[in-house]
Amino acid sequence: MKNETMRKLLIVANWKCNPTTFTEAEQLFNSVRRRIVSVKNAEVVICPPFVWLPYLLNSKLGASAFAKSYGGLAFGSQDSFWEEKGAFTGEISPLMLKSLGCRYVIVGHSERRKILKETDEMVNKKLKAALKEGLSPILCIGETQEEKNRGQTENVLENQLTLDLRDISKSEILDSKLSIAYEPVWAIGTGIPCNFDSALGANLFIRKVLNKLYGKETSRKVRILYGGSVKSNNAFNFINRAKMNGFIVGGASLEPEEFIGIVKMATRVH
Ligand code: PGA
Repeated sequence: MKNETMRKLLIVANWKCNPTTFTEAEQLFNSVRRRIVSVKNAEVVICPPFVWLPYLLNSKLGASAFAKSYGGLAFGSQDSFWEEKGAFTGEISPLMLKSLGCRYVIVGHSERRKILKETDEMVNKKLKAALKEGLSPILCIGETQEEKNRGQTENVLENQLTLDLRDISKSEILDSKLSIAYEPVWAIGTGIPCNFDSALGANLFIRKVLNKLYGKETSRKVRILYGGSVKSNNAFNFINRAKMNGFIVGGASLEPEEFIGIVKMATRVH
């Protein structure tokens, strides 16, 4: 456990389908970037919509220098396809993201699973394709409200992990720095985060499944993140009490003060 807690935190800003103009995207990025570059014990990953990604990544603001180095600030995409090229209208491939200098990719976000009907089989294909290109995937898993009410949280987590990681090897996990994000669907965008004890329970359970799938040595290298209504007033306890290795932040990542507050509170404990 010591090594896990000593590892750098991973704090992911998932802007989702926001903001709607490039001027706003640039302003948001600028106000966060200036305050984040000095953070030492966390990697902060900005995941803007695809259309803003190359502009921000290659902007004069020095972002590309950070994006290409480990630590500090990096960029991620909110999704990527499973093929590298071809007749797949509208899709973005991991090869393209890699060529841009993008390091991380969110895979299997519950909004995509629910609204775009992404299945575990699709998530598995996307993960494998991202790993092939050397991107670091952030795999999102989590139960819905109904599943929670039926007491199925652990079943859901185990099922998603087993199917999504199918045929992915230990060495791929290690080389890619894969992370798992526990994102209870009912906590996303609702302002009602998971309580810290349940989050700790989910964290330990995910670790147990990873131990079973890959052995402890490999499992302990995987960061487990929390996502779902993270704010500056709960960030401390998700790290301190629920022993999370970082966050995916949605709504609050669009408010620079709040997002910076989250990074500060998280790194304070760490
Ligand atoms: P939220 O979103 O912080 O707005 O709840 C988190 C996520 O969807 O990753």
